[in-house]
Amino acid sequence: MTLFRTALTDRLGIRLPMLAGGLMWLGDADYVAAAANAGILGFITAASFPDDADLTAEIARARRLCGDRPFGVNVSMLPKLVPGERTEYLFRLIADEGITVVETSGRNPEPYMPLLKDLGLTVIHKVPAVRFAKKAQAVGVDMVSIVGAECGGHPGMDMIGSFVNAAMAGRDLTIPFLIGGGVGHGSQLVAALAMGASGVVLGTRLLVAEELNAHPAYKAAIAGASERDTALTMQSVRNTVRSLANDTTQAVARMEAENPDITIADLMPLVSGKIGRRAYQTGDVSKGLLSAGHALGLTNAVAPMAEIIAQIEVEAQAALARLDAVRVPA
Ligand SMILES: Cc1cc2nc3c(=O)[nH]c(=O)nc-3n(C[C@H](O)[C@H](O)[C@H](O)COP(=O)(O)O)c2cc1C
Repeated sequence: MTLFRTALTDRLGIRLPMLAGGLMWLGDADYVAAAANAGILGFITAASFPDDADLTAEIARARRLCGDRPFGVNVSMLPKLVPGERTEYLFRLIADEGITVVETSGRNPEPYMPLLKDLGLTVIHKVPAVRFAKKAQAVGVDMVSIVGAECGGHPGMDMIGSFVNAAMAGRDLTIPFLIGGGVGHGSQLVAALAMGASGVVLGTRLLVAEELNAHPAYKAAIAGASERDTALTMQSVRNTVRSLANDTTQAVARMEAENPDITIADLMPLVSGKIGRRAYQTGDVSKGLLSAGHALGLTNAVAPMAEIIAQIEVEAQAALARLDAVRVPA
């Protein structure tokens, strides 16, 4: 039984209109299997497996764990990668491994669209603003995810909230779109669908999933954090990150304030991904940019992913009932 049927559930063959977005260092086979088991679709994060053999092995492991339930791969097309390098190669590798849906992010997908179509991949492109969603629509992606200022990770430079994004996307887009950024409650899923979305993409809300391969102390810190415990850094290098407020976000903010000409290279000793990875492994959350968003306010306890998703379903049902209660019959 399911509550909703949308372009997303139809196209991907999933029970509920929700995606478990790519998570650097955390988006592995166990994550996508937990998502599949919960009735949604998750993405293995290709960038977490820089070695081709490791990525191929992870996809194979996910296939064993997921059985016939679908999962995808996230490809963050980072600006430092030039077209024709690993990004293109990754798309071919993924398609060869039998993957049919990719979550792309990080830059305009236009140069890759002919290849992506050729490979028969369903492209869900993630953008931090409706203006980029329109561009992605124009170059032929299948769907867009629009993440608002509230999101964990990269909210972009515009910093427009998800509520406005959803209304604008509903007005301006013709392809199916998903809303992300601060989503962690079933009432938000209902609101997004009411505003024309075909679903939502979750990140922060899933950081307390039992199946996530992160240290218990990290999950406890996430469960204990509130919506006020994030910090924005890296705006001065046009690479805004929303992450858990800690020693690193304070130090980076100080360096950005003191030096208006600061570069990513200057900040790298503090923000390198390896430091974040260590935090997931050791549970010491004081160091590293540990992506997390305002949905921390909705993320209060560690639980199996199926329970988290089931709770969102119950909340969605309650939201629909509230709507029924206030609607004046025609
Ligand atoms: C810990 C963490 C790591 C993330 N890593 C990636 C990534 O590597 N690539 C990507 O496209 N998005 C990444 N995201 C973004 C999520 O896929 C998703 O779009 C976002 O978390 C949704 O907003 P929310 O955090 O408010 O739920 C990450 C988010 C988090 C919280």
